[in-house]
Amino acid sequence: MRIWSLGRLIPPAVAAFILAIGLVVVPAGAQEGSGSNPTAQAVSEQQLLDELNKVQGRVSIPDRKAATLQQPQGRDYQGFHERALPWIGGIAIGGMLLVLFLFYFIRGRIRTQAGESGVRILRFNALERLAHWTTAVAFIVLAITGLNFVFGKRLLMPLIGPEAFSTWTVWAKYAHDFVAWAFMLGVLVMLVLWVWDNLPDRYDANWLKKAGGMFDRSNRTHPPAARFNTGQKLIFWAVVLGGISLSVSGIFLLFPFVFTDVNGMQMAQYVHAAVGVIMVAVIIAHIYIGTLGMEGAYDAMGSGTVDLNWAKEHHSAWVEKQQAKADGRVPPHNATEPAE
Ligand code: HEM
Repeated sequence: MRIWSLGRLIPPAVAAFILAIGLVVVPAGAQEGSGSNPTAQAVSEQQLLDELNKVQGRVSIPDRKAATLQQPQGRDYQGFHERALPWIGGIAIGGMLLVLFLFYFIRGRIRTQAGESGVRILRFNALERLAHWTTAVAFIVLAITGLNFVFGKRLLMPLIGPEAFSTWTVWAKYAHDFVAWAFMLGVLVMLVLWVWDNLPDRYDANWLKKAGGMFDRSNRTHPPAARFNTGQKLIFWAVVLGGISLSVSGIFLLFPFVFTDVNGMQMAQYVHAAVGVIMVAVIIAHIYIGTLGMEGAYDAMGSGTVDLNWAKEHHSAWVEKQQAKADGRVPPHNATEPAE
C-alpha cells in the first residue's frame, strides 16, 4: 500500500498547523534526520513503520552508522534477549534436566543384560576420539560462557558482585570468541568421519517402534542397529545442523558489519541464541546417556573399545559386519535380533 504525499490534498495553512503539532509532540531526538525523505513523492507503509521511533541524528565522523542511536528492530531484539530468551533457555534446559532426573529414577540405568564377556572390540579409533573430545570440550566452554550472556546478569552477578562478574564476563567473551573455532573444526571433522554411518538404514523404523528398548526396565529389548542407532543419528544430525547454524550466525557476529548490517546481525543473534540454548539441552541428554544412563557406553569414547556383549546388545548389525570383515566373509544382509 502506498501513502501519497499530502501536499496536493491539504491547504498549506492546515499542513503548517499539523507540522507545528508534530514538532511539539514528537521527541526532539526522533525528529532529527529521521531517515525518511520529505521530498519523496511516495513512501511505503512499511517504510513509515520502520522509521517510527527511530532515534537518529547526524555525525561528522566517517562512521555513519554512529548516527543511529536506536532503531525500532533493536527494541524487538532487546525484548527477545531480556525476556523471551531466558524463558526459552530455562524451559529447554530445566525441562531436559527434569525429564532425565525422572527417567533415571523410574527406568534406572540401562544395563548390559548378558554381563561382561571379557572380549573387547575397537569402536572409535584415535582420530574419531580426538575429533569428539575437541568438539566436546569446546562445546562445554561455549555453553558455559554462552549461558553467562543469557543468565549471568540475573543469576551470577548477585552471587559474586558486579566487579568479579565484569572481570569473568570479559574473559568469558574472549573464550567464547576463540574456542568457537575449535568447535567448528571438530563438527566439520565429525561430519566427514561419521556421515555415512548416520544415513537412514533399514533398522531405523523398527528401532523407533521399540523406542530403542529404552523403556524396558528388564533390559531385554534390543532392536538391531548398525554402527549408530536411530537415537544417535538424531544426536549426530542435531550436532551437525545445529553446529552449522551456530557457526554461520556466529561468524556474522564475530565480524560486525563485514557480512551484514545491524538488522542482519540482530537476525543472526536470534538464531545463534535460540539454537545455542536448545543444543545445550540436547547435549545434556547425550552426556547423560554416555555416562550415567548406560552401563559400558563411556568406554567407547574413553578407551575407544567396548565389551563384545555390550556391542552385541546395542549394535548387533555392526558387530556382525565387523566379525565378517575380520573373518574375510561377506557381511550378512539381515542382522537378526541377538539372543535375549
Ligand atoms: C562430557 C561430555 C560428553 C560425553 C561423556 C560424551 C560421550 C559420548 C560417547 C560415550 C559416545 C559414543 C556412543 C557409542 O559408543 O555409541 C559419544 C558419541 C558422540 N558424541 Fe559425545 N559426549 C560428550 C559430549 C559431546 C558433545 C559436547 C558433542 C557435540 C556437541 C558430542 C557429540 C557426539 C556425537 C555426534 C557422537 C556420535 C553419535 C552418538 O553417539 O550420539 N558429544 N559421545
